Amino acid sequence: MTREFSTVGVIGLGTMGAGIVEVFARNGIDVVAVEIGDAPLERGKGVLAKSTGRALAREKMTQDEHDTLHSRITYATDLAALADCQLVVEAVPESLELKKDLFAQLDQIVSPDAVLATNTSSLPVTQIAVATANPKRVVGMHFFNPAPVLQFVEVIKTVITADDVFEDIKALAERLGKRPVVVGDKAGFIANALLFGYLQPRRQHVRDQVRHPRGHRQRDAVRLWAPWVRSPCSTSPDWTRPTRSSTRCTARAVTGCTHRVRSSSRWSAQVCSDARADAGSYSYAAPGSPEVVGDH
Ligand SMILES: NC(=O)c1ccc[n+]([C@@H]2O[C@H](COP(=O)([O-])OP(=O)(O)OC[C@H]3O[C@@H](n4cnc5c(N)ncnc54)[C@H](O)[C@@H]3O)[C@@H](O)[C@H]2O)c1
Repeated sequence: MTREFSTVGVIGLGTMGAGIVEVFARNGIDVVAVEIGDAPLERGKGVLAKSTGRALAREKMTQDEHDTLHSRITYATDLAALADCQLVVEAVPESLELKKDLFAQLDQIVSPDAVLATNTSSLPVTQIAVATANPKRVVGMHFFNPAPVLQFVEVIKTVITADDVFEDIKALAERLGKRPVVVGDKAGFIANALLFGYLQPRRQHVRDQVRHPRGHRQRDAVRLWAPWVRSPCSTSPDWTRPTRSSTRCTARAVTGCTHRVRSSSRWSAQVCSDARADAGSYSYAAPGSPEVVGDH
């Protein structure tokens, strides 16, 4: 039986969750977006409104499409609102305990044939799956940031994931206009395993070369090396504390080396505070602004 997925749930309306909600709603799917409280819910709505507002302003969607997209989304702060969803995608911070706890709760809420997906970057999907009564219905659906733009989605099949669940999620990703890549449940899957393998020696190199971590040579080097990178070790234009800890967690999982990760995360912390001060690889006009201004 091929599942239709006409109503899906997304838990967590942060950097990834807001983007994932937009992807589903843009593609004609009703979405129930759940946050942990009113304040983060309002923040998530703001992220979503900003993204769709930008698409509207750039004439990438009409006013009608914009309004229809938003009419497909309902918001809640209670997991019980997910009861009628055929799929729930979790996008909460990168904590195994938090994700396991959520999945165990979902068992009591959604129907037995609903699919449960995690957007984890690095945690073992199998360990999240076994927190549920039916691990066969758990799969990884790893979107990349920004989710509405990037076509790449890793679909992670554990040794327990049922074949039909996995095939249906892959088909859904294609329906969303994505290009799913099938991945086993290995640390970092494919993209982060490659990325962190690539970044680690370069971080070390930059640390060794640059006397002052905010020095102009560091900026020049990063701009030449990776002009798209907002700050030297970011893969995301929007560095926040939770994202930083997600990245540390991913780095630890992928490299398996706590010592190096600890030392490089001190450096990340400096870089992240640069990014928060809008002074990463580039200087920006204001927090969150895409406008690059001269160095100060
Ligand atoms: N940021 C990225 O570039 C990126 C890319 C791919 C995957 N991921 C993965 O996606 C997941 C989310 O990352 P993010 O960067 O969006 O994090 P984030 O911190 O931006 O967002 C997480 C959201 O989850 C909410 N939340 C926390 N506990 C909750 C609960 N119990 N119920 C409902 N909502 C809850 C928070 O309020 C927050 O808004 C992580 O597993 C991360 O590893 C992140």
